[in-house]
Amino acid sequence: MSETPIYGAGAGEPGARKPMTLHRLREMQAQGEAIAMLTCYDASFARALDDAGVDTLLVGDSLGMVLQGHRSTAPVTLEEMVYHVRCVARGNRHAWLIGDLPFGSYHQSTAQAMESAAVLMQAGAQMVKLEGGGWTSATVRFLAERGIPVCAHLGLTPQSVQALGGYRIQGRGEEAAATLKRHAVELAQAGATMLVLELMPSALAREVTQSLEIPVIGIGAGSGCSGQVLVLHDMLGLTRGKLPRFVRNFMDGAPSIEAAIRSCVAEVKARRFPDDAIHGY
Ligand code: KIV
Repeated sequence: MSETPIYGAGAGEPGARKPMTLHRLREMQAQGEAIAMLTCYDASFARALDDAGVDTLLVGDSLGMVLQGHRSTAPVTLEEMVYHVRCVARGNRHAWLIGDLPFGSYHQSTAQAMESAAVLMQAGAQMVKLEGGGWTSATVRFLAERGIPVCAHLGLTPQSVQALGGYRIQGRGEEAAATLKRHAVELAQAGATMLVLELMPSALAREVTQSLEIPVIGIGAGSGCSGQVLVLHDMLGLTRGKLPRFVRNFMDGAPSIEAAIRSCVAEVKARRFPDDAIHGY
């Protein structure tokens, strides 16, 4: 696959930073080069994160909590996701752009998922993310076969927080760990080309990562993943209240937002963040 656009500005400029591709992300995973992902919801931050060398931007439905002030991600609509994906796409130039399919936008049928995914892709997403294992494999297969790159999301899946009984660590105990491992393999076999693992024991996330040939991005899942994602407002110290143990405030001691973002990227790339002794479970 060509990594530079065939048409338009920037094509073939010597030394120009190339736009991120799925192929390159897969290569990074295979070579053990850590992938830095941050959530992003607007054009200004898209530009700042992209300039700081963030590999992938996630327009997460966490925006329901950090931007809209809801207590969960459930109220976020597809229209709202489209708006934020459009904003981020305008500011971004190089990073791989993932858009979250919000709660209720892919649960009814594969056809509904396809419609929702198409709308996000038309808004500028290069990949869609959906939550859960088991039943989602058929949805992933349906989308992947139709040319939509899909990132799956296992562990703590915030759209199901009510069913999970709160923001709790997942995959603890033999049976829960076995189910999670099985779901991860099924999703990869169905065609998922990236996986997010959230809030689980580091050893389990490491095992899942090593068992797959796709990039696995962790959040509260320890240092053994192919890369890390944090919610932007958490890593910039803007989130009020008690933060989960896996978060690090990169504004601590940083002279500017840009410096904090660069430090986050550097720490992830050097595999100094997360430190399992401090941030792991
Ligand atoms: O919505 C989001 O921001 C996410 C990340 C926390 C992985 O799904």
